[in-house]
Amino acid sequence: MRARPSLTPYGLLRPGPPIRSHPPHLICSQCLSKSSLHLSLPSARLPYNSRGYHPSRRKNQSAFGSAVSAAQNLFSKNDPPPPPPRTPPNVSIDPLRIVGKELKFMKKNIRQLLGSGHPLLDRVAKYYTTSEGKHVRPLLVLLMSQATALAPKSPRQVPYVSASGINDAITSPAILADTNPDHSVLTSASREASYSLAGDDTNVLPAQRRLAEITELIHTASLLHDDVIDNAVTRRSAVSANLEFGNKMAVLAGDFLLGRASVALARLRDPEVIELLSTVIANLIEGEFMQLKNTERDESNPVWTEETITYYLQKTYLKSASLISKSCRAAALLGHSTPEIVEAAYSYGRNLGLAFQLVDDMLDYTISGEELGKPAGADLELGLATAPLLFAWKSHPELGALVGRKFGREGDVALARQIVSQSDGLEQTRALAQEYTDKAVQSISILPDSEAKAGLIEMCAKVTKRRK
Ligand code: FPP
Ligand code: MG
Repeated sequence: MRARPSLTPYGLLRPGPPIRSHPPHLICSQCLSKSSLHLSLPSARLPYNSRGYHPSRRKNQSAFGSAVSAAQNLFSKNDPPPPPPRTPPNVSIDPLRIVGKELKFMKKNIRQLLGSGHPLLDRVAKYYTTSEGKHVRPLLVLLMSQATALAPKSPRQVPYVSASGINDAITSPAILADTNPDHSVLTSASREASYSLAGDDTNVLPAQRRLAEITELIHTASLLHDDVIDNAVTRRSAVSANLEFGNKMAVLAGDFLLGRASVALARLRDPEVIELLSTVIANLIEGEFMQLKNTERDESNPVWTEETITYYLQKTYLKSASLISKSCRAAALLGHSTPEIVEAAYSYGRNLGLAFQLVDDMLDYTISGEELGKPAGADLELGLATAPLLFAWKSHPELGALVGRKFGREGDVALARQIVSQSDGLEQTRALAQEYTDKAVQSISILPDSEAKAGLIEMCAKVTKRRK
């Protein structure tokens, strides 16, 4: 047993109540693998590294381990006490308050970006932008942009945003002779006055603002496609786009969003950021493909192994954490942060993204459909074995046959739910999510204290407490 450090809202670690030496799942929270396994895996199957493009080279260290050593470092006998945080302790920070004005501006811009001369495409493309989404991804980009604004900078070629023509709808009469990117626009380094926020005192650069919009566009595109794949009937407490407009239009609208996101991304004129966000799109599809199978091999009666969890976590990284981690990284890059800060931003996003999906998978078992705004228990109905069930499976081998037939036989879903509720699967899922959020908080401890940093920390608390 050793002391578990607790985290203040400002990321300072204090010794806390004892915990077990190892988290119960035995999975490395850094590389998403068992340490003994990940070196022998072929590189194509490893999670992406901290730069976001290639297989892992990161050190294998558990979140609890690094948090404990950080706590010990912070409170070694000879050290002076840590400096007071810039935001007073015990003040609850509402992340939405910090970037609320920015988000409102973003929603207006997104609708402009999605203009189409075709009235129906215009409607379908904007359909999910009218419902009340959580805007988690742009919120994180904006908070990270602000939080890293005060951190050390390193020289980097200046990216710029040219908004010229980007909001023009694609109109049919002009399409036989439309505008094409031209060299003068591409090389112009001017910043568009029209793309700044009135009364802007937020430290967010126009390029970071555009990045926030791009993350929301990519996410929304993925939801349009996901709802077709999942045969969804509701999304954000309203009829889903696939049901309202049909599969064909929903898929095409998703593609349109991706196209518009790609133009906005290209306009950032930042090759590293373009590569990061393009990789995210590929990752989302890889993750969704992995999800089509519950386990790596197609077996009718699979047996639980450590690989089962590794496969699930890799899928989860690709499907859910990649967008958050790489957009946090991109925000820091656009703000000219030092490589150390860029890594911290990536690590924060990666850990928070994993926690976010784990909690999502848990809520599917614990919350009513009414509260969720979409049908509860949908994962099992879709044949998906997520964290709560995978953890339960370890001590309930009879779940193997159900996983193998994707809960397709009469009574399978109810039986699986019953076994999960009698196991510690939900508890283990929550513990793992908590480990990842602890790690996310620890990642940004190198940022100077600020309201935005406190907002990022509060986002971690919100993820573990959220009910929808
Ligand atoms: C929601 O999952 C879906 C995602 C997080 C990503 C889905 C990705 C694709 C469909 C690949 C295509 C990607 C693009 C960019 C076009 P969920 O079903 O677990 O959550 P839900 O309950 O909100 O539907
Ligand atoms: Mg879905």
